Amino acid sequence: MAQELGFRGDVVDYYHRYRRGYPAAVIDALVAAFALTRDDTVVDLGCGTGQLTTPIAHRVRAVVGVDPEPDMLTRARSAAAERGVGNATWMIGTDADLPALGALLGMGALGAVTVGQALHWMRPDELFPTLFPLLRTGGGVAVVTNGTPLWLQDTDWSRALRRWLEAWLDKDLGYACGTDADSQLRYREALTVSGFDVREQHVEYAADLDLEHLVGGVYSALPVDRLPPPDQRPRFAEQLRHALPPEDRFAEHIRVTMLLGTKVQHQATELTGLRGK
Ligand SMILES: C[S@@+](CC[C@H](N)C(=O)[O-])C[C@H]1O[C@@H](n2cnc3c(N)ncnc32)[C@H](O)[C@@H]1O
Repeated sequence: MAQELGFRGDVVDYYHRYRRGYPAAVIDALVAAFALTRDDTVVDLGCGTGQLTTPIAHRVRAVVGVDPEPDMLTRARSAAAERGVGNATWMIGTDADLPALGALLGMGALGAVTVGQALHWMRPDELFPTLFPLLRTGGGVAVVTNGTPLWLQDTDWSRALRRWLEAWLDKDLGYACGTDADSQLRYREALTVSGFDVREQHVEYAADLDLEHLVGGVYSALPVDRLPPPDQRPRFAEQLRHALPPEDRFAEHIRVTMLLGTKVQHQATELTGLRGK
């Protein structure tokens, strides 16, 4: 499976260097949504190089970053260590490994499971019911997106980028990687059917990319076998520059969407529990 994903080699460097991390307001919102404390353990599924894992680690007792790509995990581990994180465990695995991780940690052991920009690789209908018993009451699942892909934004430069990339890759790039309304609705329904109370929260911010960051962002999204060889990368950047509007900076408006599925204690369960005493 890892072979098909392509988050390997140089792509990992581009990912770590040029992908947006999450603003502090997103971490604050996740901590508040599930009342996370220093007693909690959090699993970050599809952790990449630790964009959510590392900042969350500072707020809880322990985090487990899970990802099928060894190169992503290696970078996540070293980047977290550089930031003084000593409470993160890194596990090679996928959403299909959560039952085994649950068996290790125990029922009700987790304060939260976060999935940052990765659910489109997974099977939410099977994953969410598996997560429910692993979470403590008041904890939950956060499905987080970090804006839309660079080539699908409502700006002239983004439309030009899409046209040029589609010609270069000979491929339609309409797929929004789970950020589109239909996918979000599907995720929300899957959470609800699995027993979670779902609400949505947003954090908005502006960013301003130069050409280096734009090209780096594109490289971070390519499977490693589609990355231009190193000696052809300056030419790639030059051709892209000519395809874009004549600007030095490319402005982005980013809307982080958090689907927050909370495991609430329902009244009926509480009453049943009382009757049993
Ligand atoms: C776009 S990156 C997101 C990284 C990070 N969470 C973020 O928010 O930027 C998607 C990650 O999901 C991982 N992934 C792909 N399929 C997965 C699966 N079935 N289970 C868990 N992680 C998966 C990939 O290896 C990759 O590191």
